[in-house]
Amino acid sequence: MTSSPPLSIAPMMERTDRHYRWMMRLLTRRTLLYTEMVVANAILNGDREHLLGFDPAEGPLALQLGGDSPADLAVCARIAEDMGYAEVNLNVGCPSDRVAAGHFGVCLMARPAQVADCVAAMRAACGLPITVKHRIGFDQIDAYDDMLRFVDTVAAAGCARFTVHARKAWLQGLSPKENREIPPLRPAEVWRLKAERPHLQVEINGGITTLDEVATHLQQVDAVMIGRAAWDRPLLFARADSRIFGAPDPAPTLRQLGAAMGAQAERWAAARPRNRRAHALKPLLNLPTGLPGARRFRQVLTTEGLIEAARPDALPRALAALEAAGADMDAPVTQFAI
Ligand SMILES: Cc1cc2nc3c(=O)[nH]c(=O)nc-3n(C[C@H](O)[C@H](O)[C@H](O)COP(=O)(O)O)c2cc1C
Repeated sequence: MTSSPPLSIAPMMERTDRHYRWMMRLLTRRTLLYTEMVVANAILNGDREHLLGFDPAEGPLALQLGGDSPADLAVCARIAEDMGYAEVNLNVGCPSDRVAAGHFGVCLMARPAQVADCVAAMRAACGLPITVKHRIGFDQIDAYDDMLRFVDTVAAAGCARFTVHARKAWLQGLSPKENREIPPLRPAEVWRLKAERPHLQVEINGGITTLDEVATHLQQVDAVMIGRAAWDRPLLFARADSRIFGAPDPAPTLRQLGAAMGAQAERWAAARPRNRRAHALKPLLNLPTGLPGARRFRQVLTTEGLIEAARPDALPRALAALEAAGADMDAPVTQFAI
């Protein structure tokens, strides 16, 4: 079994779109990136380029699928391979009502044999690694042994990595947001999984916010996935390549980052009539978090750049506000890594 990249950025709906991923690649070349969850049915019936299109510069990129039909998922996995994705991941962690109504997401943890069939079908359909993102459990199915049974069953079908969100979910009574905050984190159970199944690739996820914490977890598991902190503080990844992968950091300056994102937004807006510049600029919102002028930058970008009638000069104006507040625009961003 090939070893997992030790660090990844979690799939997040309405966040890890192609624009966000393109920006993160300016900060880290090695971290594995994920798409938002894309439902298999949508791929089979919808606008594939809109749902799955990406720039090769975003690679390595994993496609996260939602669904529970082995046949449909197999077709999607084949499409993913043809389009140049590096991995296909199945979402067995989402607790939203809509997803549960479709009988996929975290409720699939109650049907390990079904997940195994999905993994086997996807493996048969393509040569990509097939991975699963799940939780410790949900509702009453949340004992360590329940998770172990799930993992063993799915591993037998050839799952290449288990990414475990280290908290359970409650399907009744908690919103998806509350399900990321209220059930307590139980990282020791993910460490135990790796200790008891050393031949499996195990990635931990949930509440991890610094590269120091990443390094600590890597002493116990193969990989670490970061979600919200990667959106709230993109510069967290400015030194990820050197610290976690032993490779040089891209280390652009804020001025270079701003110029690259501005040019990319213009290319995007020009490419298709329905492409909006605002979508391409949104990932920049949190870029300067922690630096002087970050609030003002966000204000200008929000009021002038992220609206329907966005000003074409919104980004330069937001960057000028950042510089005027004293942010060093010409220092490598590794200097600001948190
Ligand atoms: C806005 C948002 C959207 C998310 N969308 C997805 C998704 O599409 N697929 C998925 O598996 N998890 C999704 N998640 C969960 C994250 O991937 C991750 O498991 C969770 O946020 C815990 O990691 P963290 O504590 O590092 O944020 C989402 C989380 C957030 C905050």
